[in-house]
Amino acid sequence: MGGPLDLLLTRRSVGRVRPDPIPRTLVEEVLHAATMAPNHHLTQPWRFIVIAGNGRRAIGAAHAAAVARGRPDAPPATLEREAARLERAPVVVACVVTGGSQDPVRAREDRDAVAAAVQNLLLAAHALGLAAMWRTGTMVDEPEVRTALGLGGDASIVAFVYLGWAATVPAGRERRPLGDVVEWRDR
Ligand SMILES: Cc1cc2nc3c(=O)[nH]c(=O)nc-3n(C[C@H](O)[C@H](O)[C@H](O)COP(=O)(O)O)c2cc1C
Repeated sequence: MGGPLDLLLTRRSVGRVRPDPIPRTLVEEVLHAATMAPNHHLTQPWRFIVIAGNGRRAIGAAHAAAVARGRPDAPPATLEREAARLERAPVVVACVVTGGSQDPVRAREDRDAVAAAVQNLLLAAHALGLAAMWRTGTMVDEPEVRTALGLGGDASIVAFVYLGWAATVPAGRERRPLGDVVEWRDR
């Protein structure tokens, strides 16, 4: 600890956050960092939809409608829990890739760029003392959620990033040793 890589090495996905609001300027700082991600041809395919306050319930309700469509017998308590899903954090950022290029290479690279932007976002949040968590789950593909977010057919949701002030930070999740995942070809 105390080295130049500390910021990267200490980032954790933090699911439990306090409900206290996040100043808009802070959210804008992390989004600015997100847009500085590398991006082939600088297509800037990312869009960020900041969901906060009552906006969280609107998207949550769309998600609950999707759940109800798939499970018509779902009890009201289940649907209420699903509707409240985004309220686990004061701010949720939907990170979207737009453009839907017909060129498969461009489409893949655009999505990769958005994933890089999401990681920038997570690291920027950590640098500013915010907790963050990248979530996907079924919500990213639900037509009800897509409609509620106003997404066209050429857009895909890469992440819902939950942002807040950490309640508890989980212990580090160990990675496999480098020897398992790195191969050197130097002779
Ligand atoms: C594409 C992607 C989707 C993820 N979706 C979820 C999710 O839906 N729910 C969740 O709890 N964590 C999700 N995560 C976070 C991972 O669970 C987390 O990064 C992993 O457990 C490693 O923990 P760490 O980020 O604290 O190192 C996702 C991460 C990525 C990259």
